[in-house]
Amino acid sequence: MPPRNGNLVLAAAAAALLVLLASPPSCSAAAPRRRDTVVVPVTRDPATSLYTIPVRYYDNLVVDLAGPLVWSTCAADHLPASLSCQDPTCVVANAYRAPTCKVTGGGGDCSKNVCTAYPYNPVTGQCAAGNLAHTRFIANTTDGKNPLIQVSVKAVAACAPKRLLARLPRGATGVAGLAASGLALPAQVASSQGVTGRFLLCLPRLGYGQGVAIFGGGPIYLGEGLPDFTTTLDYTPLVAKRDNPGYYVTANAIALDDARLPLPSGALAAGGVALRTAVPFGQLRPDVFRPFVREFEKGLNRSDAKVAAVAPFPLCYRASMLGNTRIGYFVPAVRLMLAGGKNYTMTGTNSMVDVKGGKACLAFVEMKSGDAASSPAVILGGFQMENMLLQFDSEKKRLGFARLPFYTSCSNFNFTKTQ
Ligand SMILES: *[C@@H]1O[C@H](CO)[C@@H](O)[C@H](O)[C@H]1NC(C)=O
Ligand SMILES: *[C@@H]1O[C@H](CO)[C@@H](O)[C@H](O)[C@H]1NC(C)=O
Ligand SMILES: *[C@@H]1O[C@H](CO)[C@@H](O)[C@H](O)[C@H]1NC(C)=O
Ligand SMILES: *[C@@H]1O[C@H](CO)[C@@H](O)[C@H](O)[C@H]1NC(C)=O
Repeated sequence: MPPRNGNLVLAAAAAALLVLLASPPSCSAAAPRRRDTVVVPVTRDPATSLYTIPVRYYDNLVVDLAGPLVWSTCAADHLPASLSCQDPTCVVANAYRAPTCKVTGGGGDCSKNVCTAYPYNPVTGQCAAGNLAHTRFIANTTDGKNPLIQVSVKAVAACAPKRLLARLPRGATGVAGLAASGLALPAQVASSQGVTGRFLLCLPRLGYGQGVAIFGGGPIYLGEGLPDFTTTLDYTPLVAKRDNPGYYVTANAIALDDARLPLPSGALAAGGVALRTAVPFGQLRPDVFRPFVREFEKGLNRSDAKVAAVAPFPLCYRASMLGNTRIGYFVPAVRLMLAGGKNYTMTGTNSMVDVKGGKACLAFVEMKSGDAASSPAVILGGFQMENMLLQFDSEKKRLGFARLPFYTSCSNFNFTKTQ
C-alpha cells in the first residue's frame, strides 16, 4: 500500500507541476493568493438579546442563522446599483420566502427591470419588497488568531424600508442571513474571497465583550497558549429541509444528567432540533416542554428554593439558594443526544438565566402552538449557544459543536491587529 500511495502522490505532484508550468506568466508571477478566512466581532444587544455584526462602515446587521438573504436599509448616501430582474441571481434571491411573508409578486415583476427580493424580519415576521443591489462588506481577514488585513467583499443585498427594522436592536440597519442558501452571507463571502462556505459562530455572554464569527472556518484561537478549538469539535449531521434553508439537527433523546426524558415516541424525530439566533431563549414544542419542565424540577429536587415563575419562563428558583459552579448553577445537565452519538450538553450556564429579583429561571419557553406537525421539537436559542463554538458546514452537511472550557470564552478572540 505505501507504493500505491506514493505513486498517487507523485502523479498528483506531476500534475500540479504541469498546471503550474502551463499557467500564463501573469499568474505564475503573482504571489500565491492566500485564502484567509474573514473575521467579524459579534455583539449581544442587552435590550433585545439579539446579536449583531458590523459588516460595513455604516451597517450593523442582526445575525439570523435562519435567514436566506442579507438586507439593509441601504442608506441614501450609499445608493447601490440594483440588479436587473433578468439576472440569474434574482432567481437565487427568491428561492426561499418566509411562510408569513404574504407580499405577492417578486422576481418576475420586470416592469421596472429591477430585481425585487423579500427581506424578512425574523423577530416580527414582517417582510417587504425591496431591490436587490450590489454592495460591498468591509471586514478583516484572519489567521484564526488576530485580524490581518482589511478586505472589501463583493456581495449582493436587498434594500428594505426602515419600518422593517421594528424590534431589532437600536442602531441595527438590517439582517445578515447566515442560512445555507446562495445569497446568505457565508456563501457570498465564500465566492468572493475563495474560502469555503463553512463558518464558525461563537456567541458572547452578555457583559463579557464581543464574540466572534469566522467565515471560511477554522482555525480559531481563544487565548494565549490554548489550542485551535476547532480540534475539539464534535459533529452531527445537518438535516436539510425543503423550503427552509435554516439549520436543523436530529436528537434521538433528551437526557437530564443520565435520565432520559420519557417522551412520546417519535416526538423528537418530528420536526427535529432547529438552531436560531433570532430566538433569545430555547423553545420546546408543548408535547416536549411539559415533560421536560416536570422532569427538570424533579431532577433538581429543590422545592425548598422554588419561587413564583417569572413569565415567560416556567420554573424559577431563589438564585442564592442554588449551588453555583464554574459551569453555572448546580442543576441537571440538559443533554441533547444527537445523531452520530455525541451530546450537545447544556449545563447551568446555558440552561438557567438570571432574572431580576435574585431569581434564576429555566431558560426555555413553551413554543406557541402553531402547526405542530411542521414545528421543530426543540429550538436552541441564542442563550443555549453562548460560549459554545459552532461550525456550520453546509458543504459537508454537518454541524461541529464544542462547549468552551470554563477558562476561556467566545470573548477571548484577540481583535488587536498584528503589526
Ligand atoms: C479590522 O481590525 C481592526 C483592528 O481590530 C479594527 O480596528 C477595524 O475596525 C477592523 N475593520 C473592520 C472593517 O472590521
Ligand atoms: C450522552 O448522554 C447520555 C445521557 O447522560 C450518556 O449516557 C451518554 O454516555 C452520553 N454520550 C456521550 C458521547 O457523552
Ligand atoms: C429530594 O430531596 C430530599 C430532601 O433533600 C431528599 O430527602 C430526597 O431523597 C430527594 N429525592 C431524590 C429523588 O433525590
Ligand atoms: C493580542 O495580539 C497582539 C498582536 O499579536 C499581541 O501583541 C497581544 O499581546 C495579544 N493580546 C493578548 C491578550 O494575548
